[in-house]
Amino acid sequence: MYKIALLPGDGIGPEIVPQAVKVLEAVGEKYNREFQFETALIGGAAYDATGHPLPEETLELCRRSDAILLGAVGGPKWDSLEPHLRPERGALLPLRKALGLYANLRPATVKPSLADASTLKEDIVSGLDIMIIRELTGGLYFGQKHREDLPEGGQKAVETLEYSTAEVERVARLGFEMARKRDNRLMSVDKANVLESSRLWREVVEELAKEYPDVELSHMYVDNAAMQLVRNPKQFDVMVTENMFGDILTDLASQLTGSIGMLPSASIGGEVALYEPIHGSAPDIAGQNLANPIATILSAAMMLRVSFGLEQEAQAIEAAVNSVLEQGYRTGDIMQPGMTSLGTVEMTEAILKELR
Ligand code: NAI
Ligand code: MG
Repeated sequence: MYKIALLPGDGIGPEIVPQAVKVLEAVGEKYNREFQFETALIGGAAYDATGHPLPEETLELCRRSDAILLGAVGGPKWDSLEPHLRPERGALLPLRKALGLYANLRPATVKPSLADASTLKEDIVSGLDIMIIRELTGGLYFGQKHREDLPEGGQKAVETLEYSTAEVERVARLGFEMARKRDNRLMSVDKANVLESSRLWREVVEELAKEYPDVELSHMYVDNAAMQLVRNPKQFDVMVTENMFGDILTDLASQLTGSIGMLPSASIGGEVALYEPIHGSAPDIAGQNLANPIATILSAAMMLRVSFGLEQEAQAIEAAVNSVLEQGYRTGDIMQPGMTSLGTVEMTEAILKELR
């Protein structure tokens, strides 16, 4: 039996998480696996109910579960709260830190039937299948910050970009291991020409490469990597990079695939892993049965593969999604002329039908 913590969160979160649950239940029935679900509050919903965006009970549920499925947090309703009470800074970052989730795996794949859905030319993106690994609990987002008034007027704000050898090594090791499972190529992205933390990053990666002689290691500066991802993304296979570079490059990469509503992610490294779509709470379409549930459903597939080693079950979900897309079914965000438009629930029904 697998115990899964559900954290629907805000906006479209409570609409899309139940869709992934239906899919997991169907897979469980088909392959005779038992999943047990327990739901907890996070984000704005948790703030409204308890006064804190990450209640202790939520953290406790996560710690005693085998995996976590998160929807999304945040929305205009909570934007004016103090920073530490806001859904992202008050819940998402502390949750990752508390669970030791130091690596975020973000695959960017272009589904054959959606090769013309990107804003880039079809031949640049068709068949794209890359995996970006973003360091998730270090760097600028977690370093010391402060602000001070300057005697001459105005203010000074300081962020600190810190990485230790151990922090770089553990995420780089995941990169090498992932490369071994795929195409034996690893691209490490840094800014070693100007940043000291990046010089250390590169040294550590180089040293670790001695343990992986079968993996072909390359380095690229982050500015060039951004350019190359748009110019010729298929040159990449596995990429590994620090927190902020990864944040920016993965959003960029998501757009190579057509819609942010399609892409899953896994945050790993602690004793329990967290799976979530890469998009946010989409307040503009919340509550209208318009959200694309596929990113969350594919996140559930990643959970089966990465946390539970259920490869066949994961592939069954991915195949059902592909098949539904091939049949011309679309949600609004990936709608194209001549296709059939479906709502959140109806898209899930179509995937369930395919799965069964
Ligand atoms: P967003 O990802 O929520 O939305 C960006 C655009 O993509 C919107 O037009 C939205 O309608 C669309 N979109 C997103 N997911 C979709 C889906 N599944 N199906 C169809 N369309 C979809 O990002 P935005 O607008 O910057 O942020 C909205 C809220 O979400 C903010 O409060 C933000 O702080 C929060 N957020 C939360 C994240 C998380 O919980 N991991 C990540 C990013 C943002
Ligand atoms: Mg981001």
